[in-house]
Amino acid sequence: MALLFHCEWEEGGQIREGLSKLIPDVEFRIWPDVGDPADIEFAVVWNLPRGRLAGFPNLKAILSPGAGVDHLFEDPKLPESVPIARLIDPLMSERMAEYTAALTLWSHREFDAYADLQGRRSWRQVPQKDAEDRGVGILGLGALGRTTARRLRPFGFVLSSWSRTPKDEPGVTSYHGKDALPDFLRGSEIFICLLPLTSETRGVLNEKTLGQLPRGAYLINCARGPLVVEADLLAALDSGQLSGAALDVFDEEPLPPDNPLWTHPKVRITPHVSSLTAPGTAVPMLAAQVRRAQRGETLQCLVDRDAQY
Ligand code: NAP
Ligand code: GLV
Repeated sequence: MALLFHCEWEEGGQIREGLSKLIPDVEFRIWPDVGDPADIEFAVVWNLPRGRLAGFPNLKAILSPGAGVDHLFEDPKLPESVPIARLIDPLMSERMAEYTAALTLWSHREFDAYADLQGRRSWRQVPQKDAEDRGVGILGLGALGRTTARRLRPFGFVLSSWSRTPKDEPGVTSYHGKDALPDFLRGSEIFICLLPLTSETRGVLNEKTLGQLPRGAYLINCARGPLVVEADLLAALDSGQLSGAALDVFDEEPLPPDNPLWTHPKVRITPHVSSLTAPGTAVPMLAAQVRRAQRGETLQCLVDRDAQY
């Protein structure tokens, strides 16, 4: 009975050590030293090279050490009958909400404009809207999006959300489904992307949909880079359709040094840190999932294979 582990993040070592302490009876095999593939019953993996999970005939559970599972669905040989679970950790939702609230307020209170004015030693007051007149749209009202909505609500923003199914979150106008996207976008002066990357959502923010936003809208993308068509994003920034963008995720990570986003005056960049997995809370959750799989119980936080999230 062995667990395959692969996670190259800074926290990867901490997660592995913590997990091995909580489930000492389970032997750890660290990718690529898998030993006999027939021994592997559990996989805690992030960005394992494609096609490899298919090589473990006795796999009982695939566990993502993060919230996203797009790294698994990119594998065309992902074993069909093995359950997949992801991390749903309230601490990660809070971390994400800190990031999204900070950038929402940054944009709302015109800090980009003031940074520019400061650079020119210019003492000028920029007209300020009140929160009750500011539309903030959240794409994806799941584990992360819902907490973001709850943390933003006390500021008084006009909040709306877009999801696959209707929502009844107090203080948030719910839009759902493809047909409702233009109406949702029309009211989103600041829009926060917290969608999973799936075959349906890839490229959802493109020339057409960015054009449906109010002129001067501000993008906060904390989900995945390929949700936004990068060339269309740059064009929207250059034309003034977008006033700015805070980007934590990219098509290619690390963002290559020659990518024009690095030096774009309207872009703020962070290196995929808006909500890092927290070993202190994630490790006990992952250990409990391994125990469930050992007992033949249904995993928690199961991923819907058809929906890919
Ligand atoms: P989640 O709980 O699965 O929520 C996803 C939301 O997106 C749901 O509201 C879902 O609608 C909606 N959605 C999915 N497909 C859609 C579609 N085709 N059209 C409209 N709405 C759609 O996910 P989560 O835990 O909040 O995480 C979201 C994503 O954040 C992750 O997948 C990951 O990529 C990213 N993330 C990034 C970081 C970071 O540090 N940058 C950290 C953690 C996570 P329904 O509610 O109707 O199902
Ligand atoms: C990070 O991006 C995650 O999906 O947890």
